Amino acid sequence: MTKVLVTGSAGFIGSHVTAALEAHGHEVTKLDLRHGADVRDAALLGRLLPGTGAVVHQAAKVGLGVNVADLPDYASVNVYGTAVLLAAMAAHGVGRLVLASSMVVYGEGAYDCARHGRVRPGARSPADLARGSFEPCCPRCGSSLVFATIGEDAPLDPRNAYATTKLAQEHLAANWARETGGTAVALRYHNVYGPRMPRDTPYSGVAAIFRSALEAGRAPRVFEDGGQMRDFVHVRDVAEANVAALTGGEPGTLTAYNVASGEPHSVGELAAALAAERGGPEPVTTGEHRLGDVRHIVAAPHRATAELGFRARIGFAEGMKEFATAPLA
Ligand code: UD1
Repeated sequence: MTKVLVTGSAGFIGSHVTAALEAHGHEVTKLDLRHGADVRDAALLGRLLPGTGAVVHQAAKVGLGVNVADLPDYASVNVYGTAVLLAAMAAHGVGRLVLASSMVVYGEGAYDCARHGRVRPGARSPADLARGSFEPCCPRCGSSLVFATIGEDAPLDPRNAYATTKLAQEHLAANWARETGGTAVALRYHNVYGPRMPRDTPYSGVAAIFRSALEAGRAPRVFEDGGQMRDFVHVRDVAEANVAALTGGEPGTLTAYNVASGEPHSVGELAAALAAERGGPEPVTTGEHRLGDVRHIVAAPHRATAELGFRARIGFAEGMKEFATAPLA
């Protein structure tokens, strides 16, 4: 049994993490802005941390953000908040951090070119997107590519404010681990879904947007051609990964793990599965695109399996059946 501080304990993922930790017999101290407890409050942390064995840091401003007006808030909550937390952990001798990171730190997924092998295409051009050319091309010869699963050692390329702050959190945690000998584990969540997912806002992921549309009797709007691939991982599997991370990693360093189902599906398949479970309306493929979006991002979760013993248990069909009617927050 470990005494664990969970930040963001009232949030979508944090609430499931808290429940899983308690189910495994850990004693959880909860901190959440919704209960007036701010991770940037060093004095509060000074009261909560003594005697704590590990911090599971889920508190963050999430989503893609609306525009640059969001930057100060992302930096304050995600970067400054983590810095305050790490300093307090060092001051109170807390030697283990489990950090909620994200696959967005990779930017575009991994691709193979028949001639040039593994390549990293840059952002898709507005002109290509406008003419419906959604697949990235080889940056060296322009020929078509085949997407591949991404491993934790892939180059990092954060492309928006949220991604940048998630990567900054990883770097700060690595600094903390080096300087204090602490153990930091970064869990790079892929597309998390499940009960209590926040409903449709500008900050929501696609699963919540489709679910909210269906609930309101509207057709899910599938952007691009619907062929963009993601790994949709159930929130209870993500919670179990956090429990497993309490005994993983190495002192003095940060170890990153993809947390994914290992079973990629397209955004079109997601819309179809949810619509089928709810009996319609049928999804509409609109050809719209968002400039910052990446085409395919699919994980290789082998490191988490090998080192943390983590394996997602809830498959796509089963998870979507539950999610189709599960309560949203
Ligand atoms: C999402 C999150 C990201 C998080 C990551 C891993 C958001 C906005 N993005 O990234 O923060 O780190 O998962 O959990 O929270 N789409 C539609 N129709 C819509 C909305 C979106 O077809 O109505 C498409 C998008 O064009 C994109 C795909 O769905 O191709 C996924 O979109 P989204 O869930 O927003 O972003 P991710 O890039 O997967």
